[in-house]
Amino acid sequence: MKKEEGGGVKVRVDAAACQGHGRCYALAPDVFETDDHGHCVVPAADVTPEREAAARAGAENCPEDAITLDQD
Ligand code: F3S
Repeated sequence: MKKEEGGGVKVRVDAAACQGHGRCYALAPDVFETDDHGHCVVPAADVTPEREAAARAGAENCPEDAITLDQD
């Protein structure tokens, strides 16, 4: 059975792949933040269902495919 969306996800950022394009934290500032060099950091890997769409938008718009969402 397909898992329903909206159950919360875990977000991971591949720090080696991130080039600092900044689309993730521009689109989803509640999920992604920037470090001093403009690279993405995720302060809380567990994303609540309310923020899942924002996390997904950030992941889908990263030109480097540096963001991964894992269903819980
Ligand atoms: Fe990095 Fe992609 Fe965000 S390159 S700053 S994870 S849009």
